[in-house]
Amino acid sequence: MALVCLTDFEAQARQRLSKSTWDFIEGGADEGITRVENVTAFKKIRLRPRYLRDVSKVDTRTTIQGEEISAPICISPTSFHCLAWPDGEMSTARAAQATGICYVTSTYASCSLENIVAAAPRGLRWFQLYVQTDQQLNKQLIQRAESLGFKALVITVDVPMHGNRRQDIRNQLDLKGNLMLKDLQSPKEGNSIPYCQMSFISSSLCWDNLSWLQSITRLPIILKGILTKEDAELAVKHNVHGIIVSNHGGRQLDEVPASIDALTEVATAVKGKIEVYLDGGVRTGNDVLKALALGAKCIFLGRPILWGLACKGEHGVEEVLNILKNEFHTSMALTGCRSVAEINRDLIQFPRL
Ligand code: FNR
Repeated sequence: MALVCLTDFEAQARQRLSKSTWDFIEGGADEGITRVENVTAFKKIRLRPRYLRDVSKVDTRTTIQGEEISAPICISPTSFHCLAWPDGEMSTARAAQATGICYVTSTYASCSLENIVAAAPRGLRWFQLYVQTDQQLNKQLIQRAESLGFKALVITVDVPMHGNRRQDIRNQLDLKGNLMLKDLQSPKEGNSIPYCQMSFISSSLCWDNLSWLQSITRLPIILKGILTKEDAELAVKHNVHGIIVSNHGGRQLDEVPASIDALTEVATAVKGKIEVYLDGGVRTGNDVLKALALGAKCIFLGRPILWGLACKGEHGVEEVLNILKNEFHTSMALTGCRSVAEINRDLIQFPRL
């Protein structure tokens, strides 16, 4: 059967993947309240379309950190793409390049950064860092990413420790046998770090440490995982260049608000001083439109990319991105928006349901 929407890919990916891999990808923390709400919160928002506007030409292009993308739809960092498809992140990078959007590569990529860049040398890429306890390793990773042409550094702030994913515990998920973290080669030891040592993520990272990161790179720094106005204001104060409003797809602290519900608070606090993005629960073109109307410059996709990979590799990721781009194009036309600059809060019905 033809796969015509992102949830079609979800259903087919489920059939293709082993139970433990499926559970790892889909899973949320604890009771999975936030994981589910990320999706359902979008469905409680109603739109106010405007008609009798010439929408024969609709332009979905925009920019992030000064770089043009073909639509405000990019790829969130997710780990271990080789679990979903043998070529892993190399396929993802090729699909991102072909569709003209940005791919945020995870610290926990299953292919090396060099191989990912070689697979799609013209693609726009940002590098996501889980700050490690070993400062030398952080420096080495950041400078390697910078010299390979990654255009921004995404620091994930919502993992001072790993969330509690019940299904992975039940499945006794064991990725260490076949997955080595190639990019986490310690300069001292020269060996890849196995998955079981992922706990080397720093749990003492603080606002004050940002200046050290800023001192060793010229890349713009984006904080991923901000959910409150207090932290948004601190982010601006500490001169970061952007925020991704995110709850890690509901995989870290459960019972935080859905990303779309946290967006207004963060966007209002930032007052347009830095770019605000969103990930979590985006599954349709209308979702993209709603996120932009509420203040996001662009959205990022996590699980849907892995569904695309699991179904058809590089071509599956391309299809997922193109389906969402087409849906977004339709959403824009049907609400009377000819350019992303015309998307604003007037498209949203208040009070919300
Ligand atoms: C993630 N996420 C994540 N985030 C991050 O900063 N670094 C990482 O390595 C990972 N790894 C990862 C693996 C898997 C399997 C998932 C599902 C998620 C979180 C990710 O970047 C993003 O925040 C969410 O996935 C967005 O929600 P949706 O689009 O999956 O609903």
